[in-house]
Parts: sequence; C-alpha cells; structure tokens
Amino acid sequence: MKPELKDGTATVMAHPNIALVKYWGKRDEGLNLPHTGSISVTLSPMKTVTTVTFEAGLEQDEVRLNGTEADAGTLRGTVKVLDLMRGRAGLLTRARVETENSFPTAAGLASSASGYAALAMAAAAAAGLRLSRQELSVFARRGSGSASRSLHGGFVEWRRGELADGSDSCAVALAPAQHWPLKVLVVVVEAGPKPISSREAMKRTVATSPFYPAWLERVEADLPVAREAIETRSLETLGLMAERNCLSMFATMLGAQPPVIYWRPSTLAVLEKVQALRREGLLGFYTMDAGPNVKVLCTAETASTWRTALELIPGVQSVLECEVGGPAERLA
Ligand code: PMV
Repeated sequence: MKPELKDGTATVMAHPNIALVKYWGKRDEGLNLPHTGSISVTLSPMKTVTTVTFEAGLEQDEVRLNGTEADAGTLRGTVKVLDLMRGRAGLLTRARVETENSFPTAAGLASSASGYAALAMAAAAAAGLRLSRQELSVFARRGSGSASRSLHGGFVEWRRGELADGSDSCAVALAPAQHWPLKVLVVVVEAGPKPISSREAMKRTVATSPFYPAWLERVEADLPVAREAIETRSLETLGLMAERNCLSMFATMLGAQPPVIYWRPSTLAVLEKVQALRREGLLGFYTMDAGPNVKVLCTAETASTWRTALELIPGVQSVLECEVGGPAERLA
C-alpha cells in the first residue's frame, strides 16, 4: 500500500457515443453487466473534458460539473469509479474532479458516456497507472454502461462478456473514425433533463416487460449485421438495422409496468420527416437513446441538405452536426 500520492493530476477529453445496436438491460446491477453486447459510433466535436487531481489532505472527493457542485447521482458514480481506481493503484488519497461538457447534460445525449470515459482515463493517469483502453473501459463501465464505448474512437463494440466479475465485459474498437466519415445530426427537441433515468427505465423494463426476451433475440441478430455493415461501409444496411433496433428498444419500454415513454410529439415529427425524405431519395436513418432527441445518420455530402430540412420541423430547437470522433485522449 502506498496510501498517499503527492498531487497526481491529469486532464482527459472524451467524446460521447450513440449506439446503433443498443444496450438496454443489465444482468448484474451492481457491476453494470449487460444482457447483450452493443455497438456505437463515437461523436465529435461534442466532448467532456475532465481533470482529476489526487490531493493529499482532502477529506473527501470533491466533484464539480460545469462549474457547480455535482448532484448526488453524479457524485456517487464518480466516487465509485475513483474508489475502484484507488483500489487498483493501492491509494487512499481523495481527489478533486472538475468536469466540463460541451453539450446539454441529461438530454439523452449521453453525457454520462463521455463523462465516465474521461473520468476513468484521467483517474488512472493521475494515479500513475498505465492501463490499456480495454482495461479502462471496464472502469468506465462501472460509472455508466455506455461509457465503456467512449474510450475508443470510430466504431466500437462493447462485448457482453461471460465472467461473473465482469473483467471481460469491455469495449473493443471495430474501425477507426477515418474508416467511414459519416455524419450524425443530433436533432434536439428538448434539452432539459429526462423524466426517468436510463438506469431506472432499463431496470423496470427487464423486470416487467413481456417483450424483453424478444429484445434479446433482436440484438443477437443485429450485432453481426452491424459489424458487417460497418466493415463494408453499407449505410443502407447499417441504417435500416439501427432504426429497427432502436424501435424495438422503445417497444420493450412500452411493455413495461408502468410504461416508459421518452418521446415527445416533435420526436415523432422528426421520424416522419426522415422517412418522407428517404422516400424522396435522400439517404439518411434515425436512431435515439433514452430521451426525446433524434440522431440522423447520413453521408457528408447530404448533411447540409438534411440539416436544413430538419431545422424547419416545428418543435425542433437545434440541430448539432457531428462527425465520427476519435478516441479519448490525455490533454495534460
Ligand atoms: O449507459 P447508460 O446507463 O446511460 O445507458 C444507455 C442506454 C442507451 O443510451 C439507451 C443505449 C446505449 O447503448 O447507449
């Protein structure tokens, strides 16, 4: 045991990600172990920048998010990841954590994904640990499942794993960002916090939805389709699979007791517009996470046409244009 570390500090940037094959449901609540694997694409330029400083003399971890003291949930998750890192490094020193998000927190834009990915990498570096991205993804996973995928750039698979301790439930890179320069338009219809956390919603779905077993089959069928579509850069195959997969996830939530409904009327208006434009020959596909906002997958050539059309839909507040992002990286 080396109980005190002298002021180790590190700053890390990580991008959020959007799942194309979703993670929805845990087989182990404590360890954040998923029932299935999932596949995502990392999104730039949205980002989280986190600085972790282990500071001798601090009595407890101090966590600030966008300049103000973190809420109880964020604090709990952050302390959990820091404790795991301290355990690995043989440290007792408490830490000061400063996090800034470049996009609205808790709007279904996966700020927890970039947040816990940046935290895991910064905490490891500040503690003097040299861990692979795969190892870091296991720490990030404990904060939030989808965070495991934000250590890598490009297209990423979080493997379900088989081991009871979760050490093989980690994220691996499928293809780097340069492999396929797609665009993702984030269509914001509501930027406030969501009515129910994804943690609670997936727990309720697993426990009560009669459609959950069908969801597990859906994902097992979609994973190989997604891997191949990414490898061969087939937007149509990937996009149709992503739409089907996301609608199936929402179907399991509608079957929960009480039902979970994240959509707003303008969510549906966006989905209808995407389908209408596709019928007119503009290639693009939607997906959504646990929130009302929609993400549209399209090529770089069609992105500005898509953007103009999406901005005109009543109820749409803004459209953020993203590209496929790189891996989490240490800035200082
Ligand atoms: O990582 P969590 O606990 O925020 O859950 C994420 C769930 C979805 O965003 C809906 C799907 C996914 O795979 O990211």
